[in-house]
Amino acid sequence: MDRILIRGGRRLNGRIAISGAKNAALTLMPCALLTDEILELRNLPRLADVDSFMHLLNQLGVSTMVKGTSPAEFGRSMTFKASKITSTVAPYDIVRKMRASILVLGPLLARTGEATVSLPGGCSIGTRPIDLHLKALQALGAEIELAAGYVKAVAPKGGLTGGTISFPVVSVGATENALMAAVLAKGTTVIENAAREPEITDLAECLVAMGAKIDGIRSDTLTIEGVERLHGARYSVMADRIEAGSYACAAAITGGDIELVGARRDSMAATLAALHDAGIHVEDTADGLRVFTNEEIKPLSLSTAPFPAFATDMQAQFMAMLTMARGTSLLTETIFENRYMHVPELNRMGADIEVRGRSAVVRGVDKLVGAPVMATDLRASMSLIIAGLAAEGETQVSRIYHLDRGYERLEEKLQGIGADIERVGDG
Ligand code: EPZ
Repeated sequence: MDRILIRGGRRLNGRIAISGAKNAALTLMPCALLTDEILELRNLPRLADVDSFMHLLNQLGVSTMVKGTSPAEFGRSMTFKASKITSTVAPYDIVRKMRASILVLGPLLARTGEATVSLPGGCSIGTRPIDLHLKALQALGAEIELAAGYVKAVAPKGGLTGGTISFPVVSVGATENALMAAVLAKGTTVIENAAREPEITDLAECLVAMGAKIDGIRSDTLTIEGVERLHGARYSVMADRIEAGSYACAAAITGGDIELVGARRDSMAATLAALHDAGIHVEDTADGLRVFTNEEIKPLSLSTAPFPAFATDMQAQFMAMLTMARGTSLLTETIFENRYMHVPELNRMGADIEVRGRSAVVRGVDKLVGAPVMATDLRASMSLIIAGLAAEGETQVSRIYHLDRGYERLEEKLQGIGADIERVGDG
């Protein structure tokens, strides 16, 4: 298995291109199931999860084509055409590798009247049930059956009908499945307590470009007027706010000065506010955001929560940065029940972090020391990279297949801003 080697201590300087957002791409791709016309998605990141989703769509009968881009460019365009859905089953062997496969449930049900999707099961950061997805589809008239590790959803004879979906807790994926099902349901659907993450806005705007009727975009109440059919569209995936925030933390911990090309302030407000409170400067540039620091990192007290609050997907990266703060920080993870697996690995590099239930107390240290560490999940892997960039000596990160799910050409991008980092295979 590949590993990443980092020799830390270099200040990061220069421009780094931000790719299309993984969590937008994974909800935009299933929109192709909602029409028999061509959906073209641009600025798709080259990531393992995007490839896996493409293979899943192919299995359902969607023909896909990657439009030529030179290898030097980041991202690529892909066209999707679901002339005919040839299968309505998302099998276990695909879903177990990528839980976002559950996002074919709503669109398959809306387009064909049925869908059978393997239950995704838990993952390292939590049990991650899908009960809210299923309740939302039942509110649109779907019959749901759970058997042998699969969920089977069937629409009424005349198709899904509009209804009121009121989420007890905010769920990004359940909001996405509900939205993709409601756009073709007969009548009006109201989604209350909808997630407001920028990736949901990207999904809603792509659906509108395909002919959907959606009101309340960016708010927590979405009103959808079902339409007979959707048409094709050309849509460009938003910039990855989590990738941008991750590289901002890397700049901060190395005392660097970088430009996040393509980053959008409006999708990163809580991250940028936290960076500001930590003493990191952020300036708008013609092409994105400049992140730089010439002073010590200040400790923070941060709690994750749904957008527009501080994102759970940024918790591990900020924790890495705060290991070098001048003082003690308190991080509280309110979304997932087991999102501190980066802590023991960071402590092996000399950090001083103590987990107390849902919170982690991070006492700043003067230095981190490189060590062999193991990635456990996507964002935990990035926190180890960030720590390695600042640590004295060499850090070796193993199991980096976690990283390849969410960070396009990470070592190439970091080499481009001065990091001493390389990927080595076991040969
Ligand atoms: C999405 O996951 C993201 N993944 C996650 O990013 C992100 O951490 C999460 O939203 C929260 O922002 C993608 O978009 C592909 P949720 P999702 O449904 O949709 C509970 C990353 O690192 N819940 O908003 O699965 C759930 O257990 C990944 O890029 C239910 O109880 O998240 C969790 O505690 C990790 N029942 C909370 O809600 C349900 O039916 C939020 O989950 C659904 C969720």
